[in-house]
Amino acid sequence: MCGIVGIVGNKAVSGRLVEALKRLEYRGYDSAGVATIHDGKLDRRRAEGKLVNLETVLSEAPLAGTIGIAHTRWATHGAPTEANAHPHIVDGVAVVHNGIIENFAEIKQALAAEGAVFTTQTDTEVVAQLLAHYRKAGLGRREAMHAMLKRVTGAYALAVIFADDPSTIMAARSGPPLAVGYGDGEMYLGSDAIALGSFTNRIAYLQDGDWAVIGRTSIYVFDHEGNPVERPPQTVTASAFLIDKGNHRHFMEKEIHEQPEAISHTLSHYIDFTDGTIGAFDDTIDFSKLTNLAISACGTAYLAGVTGKYWFERYARLPVEIDVASEFRYREVPLPKTAAALFISQSGETADTLASLRYCKAEGLKIGAVVNVRESTIARESDAIFPILAGPEIGVASTKAFTCQLTVLASLAIRAGRQRGTLTAAEEKELVAHLAEMPRVMSRVLNSIQPQIEGLARELSKFKDVLYLGRGTSYPIAMEGALKLKEISYIHAEGYAAGELKHGPIALIDENMPVIVIAPHDRFFEKTVSNMQEVAARGGRIIFVTDAKGAKASELPTMATIVLPEVDEAIQPMIFSLPIQLLAYHTAVFMGTDVDQPRNLAKSVTVE
Ligand code: AGP
Repeated sequence: MCGIVGIVGNKAVSGRLVEALKRLEYRGYDSAGVATIHDGKLDRRRAEGKLVNLETVLSEAPLAGTIGIAHTRWATHGAPTEANAHPHIVDGVAVVHNGIIENFAEIKQALAAEGAVFTTQTDTEVVAQLLAHYRKAGLGRREAMHAMLKRVTGAYALAVIFADDPSTIMAARSGPPLAVGYGDGEMYLGSDAIALGSFTNRIAYLQDGDWAVIGRTSIYVFDHEGNPVERPPQTVTASAFLIDKGNHRHFMEKEIHEQPEAISHTLSHYIDFTDGTIGAFDDTIDFSKLTNLAISACGTAYLAGVTGKYWFERYARLPVEIDVASEFRYREVPLPKTAAALFISQSGETADTLASLRYCKAEGLKIGAVVNVRESTIARESDAIFPILAGPEIGVASTKAFTCQLTVLASLAIRAGRQRGTLTAAEEKELVAHLAEMPRVMSRVLNSIQPQIEGLARELSKFKDVLYLGRGTSYPIAMEGALKLKEISYIHAEGYAAGELKHGPIALIDENMPVIVIAPHDRFFEKTVSNMQEVAARGGRIIFVTDAKGAKASELPTMATIVLPEVDEAIQPMIFSLPIQLLAYHTAVFMGTDVDQPRNLAKSVTVE
């Protein structure tokens, strides 16, 4: 949710800390701040809003020092003001934090009763106050750190510096990720490897419960009980490449147009192009032995899972239990040991998804992770990793990760069908051939529909409510279209199963609420056309997303008809995602919202 970085260096750190924060700004951007130690004193600069505001403050009042910590915030406790911005400083201790200290209120009450003066509304301040309290009580820095960690409960990735020790950063992790970078006479700390990508690619990951004492050329890691542990560095794939928008206005636009390339990377990992079958990859999960499959995720990743459910049940005859992770984790779903569980997460750090994973692991199930970050917590706690290879997705609204997730799930469903004997070799080859044509079809679609979509988006931006309808695998795509539109344009939108229209939503239909119908000419087409007639009969305005056959078959009047190539059902969800992504994007551009960093959102929700 927030991003934290630290450097214990051999040259000035302030500018480099801000550069590292830029790679984390997608995690949250309500406020930002930096603290360094110079001449035995802590000094700090903070600013509300985007990182560019902090850069302005620093240009007017630079920060010296070769050791420092920094933070970009997505507010959980306390308004996104400068006063609540991290780093928090109390009596010579500076702290930055990602996560939530769940027992902060009782600690705050206890410390205030002993005279502590709190200056912020945040949960994080209790960490700095506790450390200052223990130091005043005569504890050394390490003892104070250990005592604080024994006292707080909740989710945290922490970085701490003490004014009287300009050669050490202390760090701790319980939940949100924390990576340590090894440099040449310097050490680095960050919420993920990408943040450290311009300093090093030698990274060690702290595990849950770890805390560390990090010097310029040394690191000591301890477990929650204070026992020394080893966390050796590895060379990670998050290379130092510069993440930029290229010639696009937003990361989201870039990532929409990157999909043909991203899908190619994904397919190359899962398809054996020499014989046109699903290739050999992690086969820890033997689908032939499963009685059922649980799938859990959040947001767009969840909608990928809903689409995957159709495929696992159709191609592998494997019953799928799916729920959003925030519900799944508390339902305590009864699952036999003959079940396996798949967790889908672009970031691999979503708290609810991780909690659901841990529930299934405790139940003794085999765990598979469909993730974009191989080094993420969800990946590292799984038995099988199914990477989506989408490349870093910076736009908060997920696009290329979604279609890459779909591609992986389709590949797994075909693999499951073969292992369970419900798909013949010939059927596998046919499905794989459809998957393999996706990059070409996607390129064609992206190059052909853009002008029409931009014109339509201008119209759509005038409305306050939009309904999306779909059947079969077009139903989760309808829900995804609604999620995309609402999260970046702030227009209210709902995705519904088209068959549900007459069970309530039809009461909403009038000329003020466009209805976007996702309907390729598939086995559901006629039924969906009847729904469109119900909409038209009530003055509803239809945006029809179909293929050439569908456009010819329906004479209904529409606000617009977006015609896509006729493709096999196996890849319709990926192809029909493109117009709904573009429609949401261009509508948001007309609305003038912050497309890459929509209000109130963060790219990775690492708290409940
Ligand atoms: C997607 O457009 C949203 N930003 C959001 O729903 C996202 O899919 C969800 O938070 C899950 O994130 P994850 O894939 O990193 O777990």
